[in-house]
Amino acid sequence: MATAPVDGATRYLPDDHSLSSLENAASGCQGCHLYQDATQTVFGHGKGDAPIMLVGEQPGDHEDQQGLPFVGPAGRLLAQALEDAQIDPALTYQTNAVKHFKFKRVGKRRIHQKPGRIEVVACQPWLIAEIEAVQPQVIVCLGATAAQSLLGNAFRVTAHRGERLELPDALHVDVPSQPVVTATVHPSSLLRDRSDDREKNYQLFVDDLRSAGAALK
Ligand code: URA
Ligand code: SF4
Repeated sequence: MATAPVDGATRYLPDDHSLSSLENAASGCQGCHLYQDATQTVFGHGKGDAPIMLVGEQPGDHEDQQGLPFVGPAGRLLAQALEDAQIDPALTYQTNAVKHFKFKRVGKRRIHQKPGRIEVVACQPWLIAEIEAVQPQVIVCLGATAAQSLLGNAFRVTAHRGERLELPDALHVDVPSQPVVTATVHPSSLLRDRSDDREKNYQLFVDDLRSAGAALK
């Protein structure tokens, strides 16, 4: 079966790996087909030396239009959870595993579609370059897509949430000291949660954020 070749983001990486150069270069990335339908690249956002990096899946509808990560409903839930975990949002750099919004049109609506492995791998060079530029002490993967980008395709959040992990050597992330990596659920899963355990699941998410924050030196 023939699949379209995907070069990935590598050839769009600039020589200068400062965050502003990376963001500028990512705005022209065509490393996979997702740039074609999305409004714009949504690069990470936050202080360039933030000690905590939060990695989501991909921009949603609001993020796609505004060009900033976590500005829609999932972002509001995340902001509330950070507050409840007593983590100052100014300590965080927020980004996504995939930098373009993947969706399908249903009438006038644009319905989120989960990025596939090809898109996650294509976009990984931006995420790795962000980690190398920001050099966070702690990386929190929000949901399976982020966790599988950084911890491998076999990683299961349900089996390992909250554990203190390391980036695999195979990613070749070049930083002076290795960050602690943790994984938890995606805030969107809590928005969708209509179960009786909704409040409990939210508290578990806050607990995961709090213990990630506690890993800071
Ligand atoms: N969901 C994500 O994973 N990232 C965003 O930026 C917004 C919603
Ligand atoms: Fe490039 Fe990532 Fe956008 Fe694909 S999703 S075009 S790799 S920035």
